[in-house]
Amino acid sequence: MFGNCGIATRTHGRTLAVPAVMSTETSSTIQTRFVCASALNLPFPDAEFDFATSFMALMDVPDHARALGEAWRVLRAGGFFQFSICHPCFFTRKSDWTTDDLGRRVARTCTDYFQPAQGEVDRWMFGRAPAELRGDIDEFMIPRFERTLSGWLNLALAAGFALEAFHEPSASDTDLVKEPSLYDTRIVAYALIVRCRKP
Ligand SMILES: C[S@@+](CC[C@H](N)C(=O)[O-])C[C@H]1O[C@@H](n2cnc3c(N)ncnc32)[C@H](O)[C@@H]1O
Repeated sequence: MFGNCGIATRTHGRTLAVPAVMSTETSSTIQTRFVCASALNLPFPDAEFDFATSFMALMDVPDHARALGEAWRVLRAGGFFQFSICHPCFFTRKSDWTTDDLGRRVARTCTDYFQPAQGEVDRWMFGRAPAELRGDIDEFMIPRFERTLSGWLNLALAAGFALEAFHEPSASDTDLVKEPSLYDTRIVAYALIVRCRKP
């Protein structure tokens, strides 16, 4: 797993490649090994893992082809790679929420879909961070490496993967009763989840 991602071995262990975390979990019956490494150069042999996953990280990685190639390399034949990314259609370099008179999000406008960011530094803060904490926390500064929807899917195909399933999370009616602030996930999808398999 890269960018806090996980890779499962054929045995019972799990290996996690997690920046800034290098420890061994002992509380679980499944032993977890944490490895600090780059998605562009995974320190694992070929065909070592049953599956690999990356959570909301690949769009921050400068060489998508190489990252997907590394995921493909460390998987055994028949293994799968599941990754989530900022939704390429709705979170383009120039996109923002439109709000109503009460400040509620009602739409998302986006442009420059076909001119994706190539390393532009994005500054952001979690939208739901408590107001009293915001003053004490520096904004995140992250270079963005975007790609169109077809760009991502074609890249996975070019790496040798077979595309298997897609998902665009959105709060259900039950979710909204529990957590009303998720209402904007009913306007557009924040993330795209792709599962692809090494033939
Ligand atoms: C938006 S954060 C998501 C982190 C975490 N998965 C989460 O959901 O909270 C993106 C992560 O990608 C990591 N990242 C960026 N470039 C990377 C690379 N080349 N290899 C591994 N991780 C990388 C960053 O360090 C950061 O932790």
